[in-house]
Amino acid sequence: MMNRRQALSLSAAGLLAACQSVPARGAALPTPSLHQLAREKGLRFGSAVGAGRPGTVTASFDDPLYREILAHECGVLVHENELKWYVLRPDVNTYDYARADRIMDFAARHGMDVRGHTLVWHHPQWFPEWIETHDYGARPAAEAERLVVEHINAIVGRYGDRIDSWDVVNETVDPATGGLRRTALSQHLGDQEIVDLAFHTARAAAPNAQLVYNDYMSWEAGHETHQAGVLRLLEGMKARGVPIDALGVQSHIGSGNSDDSVGFDTAREANWRRFMDEVTGMGLDIVISEFDVHDKNLPADIASRDQAMAELARRYLDLMLSYPQTKDVLAWGMMDSYSWLQENWPRADGIAKRPTPYDANHQPKPLRQAIADAFMAAPAR
Ligand code: XIL
Repeated sequence: MMNRRQALSLSAAGLLAACQSVPARGAALPTPSLHQLAREKGLRFGSAVGAGRPGTVTASFDDPLYREILAHECGVLVHENELKWYVLRPDVNTYDYARADRIMDFAARHGMDVRGHTLVWHHPQWFPEWIETHDYGARPAAEAERLVVEHINAIVGRYGDRIDSWDVVNETVDPATGGLRRTALSQHLGDQEIVDLAFHTARAAAPNAQLVYNDYMSWEAGHETHQAGVLRLLEGMKARGVPIDALGVQSHIGSGNSDDSVGFDTAREANWRRFMDEVTGMGLDIVISEFDVHDKNLPADIASRDQAMAELARRYLDLMLSYPQTKDVLAWGMMDSYSWLQENWPRADGIAKRPTPYDANHQPKPLRQAIADAFMAAPAR
């Protein structure tokens, strides 16, 4: 049932969409919740949620039954897109916090923590266009620095008392080369300098928050160059005394986006353990920041697909949770119909993917049970 608060918080369009498309749940949500199971082991469990344009995949927040799942299962939320430059900053002078605030308010009402994703998604594809056309003037490095510092101070200044962990920089390592990406900002500032600047600025603005570098290097074959690049970046930051507390391992596991492999059989566990050993050996914590399972190339049959995904998830989470440095597990969405993977790298047969713990009818799946089992089996932190 939708409570009065939830009903009031829905926009008219969102309410209409929700009434049209959301079937009644029919069964109680499973207990203990993932949040409770995680907490018993000193872990924190949560999910991304999107307050995007109503009626789109990014508008999961508009679905009242989805909000019920979040309130029940999660101890921490993260904005799916609402803190990104391209959403917050339509132009250089405007900060539009309306969408981000809806999620902050919901989290506060339900006593949930919030992670901050992300202060600088340092990837040319994911900045607003104005960053390219902006007039950087006679001292372009100083102007680029001003933009970054002002941005971080504004966001952390607004939400810093509620957000205790920030993805300060996201995806700046190019998986193809292991080198750092170049953007309209870093061409003036320097590719490494912009990373250092972002972390120093974040530390000054949020002295007590966990500062995270977040990326998608993963345990599948083919990620070796990406892993090596991330290790080089982290080692350099530590050597230069840059304030960093944790690595965010996005954990989009499974098929990846390739057409020629199922992807489930290419996990390289020994190699991945070496990577994890190196990261934790630097004194860094681990955040599983965007967990989902990509079933792009699995056979269509739902029962066997769900089982294969649950088994892979369990194997992955058991490995990750064997490190006491792993303290946060966040799913990149809790319900299949709102998964970003529905819009990216479609399956050859065109059917819907099943990457998250709940199906399109708000019902828990074997993947949810796999997460619960992994938490129950995990050593206490
Ligand atoms: C994705 C969102 O889920 C999509 O809605 C959006 O269109 C693109 O970004 N790595 C990240 C996340 O760090 O921010 C991305 O989120 C998924 C991959």
